[in-house]
Amino acid sequence: MVLNTKVWIVQDKESATASYAQEAGEALRQAADIVRQGGLIAFPTETVYGLGANALNTEAVAGIFQAKGRPSDNPLIVHVASETDLDGLVLPYPPLAGRLMKRFWPGPLTIVLPVRPDVLSPLVTANLRTVGIRMPDHPVALELIKLAGCPVAAPSANRSGRPSPTLAAHVMEDLSGRIDGILDGGATGVGLESTVVELEGERGIRILRPGGVTEEALRLAFPDAEIVSEPETSAAPEKPRSPGMKYTHYAPKGELSIIQGQPEAVISYVNEQARQSKADGVATGILSFSERSSRYEADLVLDLGSESKPEEAAHRLYGALRQFDEAGIGRIWSEACRPEGIGDALMNRLVKAAGGMLIELDK
Ligand code: TXA
Ligand code: MG
Repeated sequence: MVLNTKVWIVQDKESATASYAQEAGEALRQAADIVRQGGLIAFPTETVYGLGANALNTEAVAGIFQAKGRPSDNPLIVHVASETDLDGLVLPYPPLAGRLMKRFWPGPLTIVLPVRPDVLSPLVTANLRTVGIRMPDHPVALELIKLAGCPVAAPSANRSGRPSPTLAAHVMEDLSGRIDGILDGGATGVGLESTVVELEGERGIRILRPGGVTEEALRLAFPDAEIVSEPETSAAPEKPRSPGMKYTHYAPKGELSIIQGQPEAVISYVNEQARQSKADGVATGILSFSERSSRYEADLVLDLGSESKPEEAAHRLYGALRQFDEAGIGRIWSEACRPEGIGDALMNRLVKAAGGMLIELDK
């Protein structure tokens, strides 16, 4: 079935006039009605665009899997607008979970909690006994959830396997005709998905997926907690704790490799590889930090910003991967960064986008 995907512009807070605010309010009310009644609406969050559906409605949630082409054993994150929205959705949880909410919500932290049986659609949890919940730090997302009056299940609003959308235009590319509407709130902030954590006992926090809330931020906020970072890699374990992490994800259409090593060695290796591919008639792309981007030669060299600002690279990564696709690039090489701060999530996504193709040059 082809839907007529409606686009509402709800960005532009700075120059907001009274009539603009009224229109945006009306757009949000319409979108929220659609969600409540079982439709699919894409909306901006501070991380990436989400594809939202009423988490209590199995038909609606089934629509998400269908629109995305997503495997059904990959559970969805439930989005709430206030802590009281949790009442009725989850079973009693350890105090540490409550402290995490107080410190990091609204924000890019998804907390895996014990789910109350028979409330959420079983498709949301993929029949696990837990549910991942987060409160997004974005006025449009929060207002949409509030007005819809139901918990909103939302994965990233991309076709399964493609880079997550950081612009409404990315959502259109992937899902136009497959969903009811898109709230266009402009570019998302972080640019990578939320951090997913699970609690272990009274003091343990296990990071299942690195993301917008860094490991360093967690340690700083909870010096008494035992924090374990163990994201699943693409070497798919039999029973992944965070099922989504086992799939090839975020991938551009071209073949991507990450090259690690001394800068000069990386530059000559990548340029040589690109020369060879070009000679074979393959369109080439390179992803680099601005310190060195002028040193590379390929059909398309994209700049992630300064190495000293991994936040900028996180913000740009998915858009860049999509740009390579648009340009029909067949082979892509990317520089690596230090897995510190948001650089940890950045490297996690890059390595997954590359299907594990991480090449370490001799020191
Ligand atoms: O930033 C984000 O988290 C975005 C925005 C839209 O909120 N959402 C997002 O959703 O990235 P998605 O579906 O693309 O990724 C959800 C991740 C998957 O890796 C999934 O396996 C994991 O969260 N997850 C969901 N429920 C889980 C659970 N009960 N236990 C463990 N992992 C879970
Ligand atoms: Mg996703």
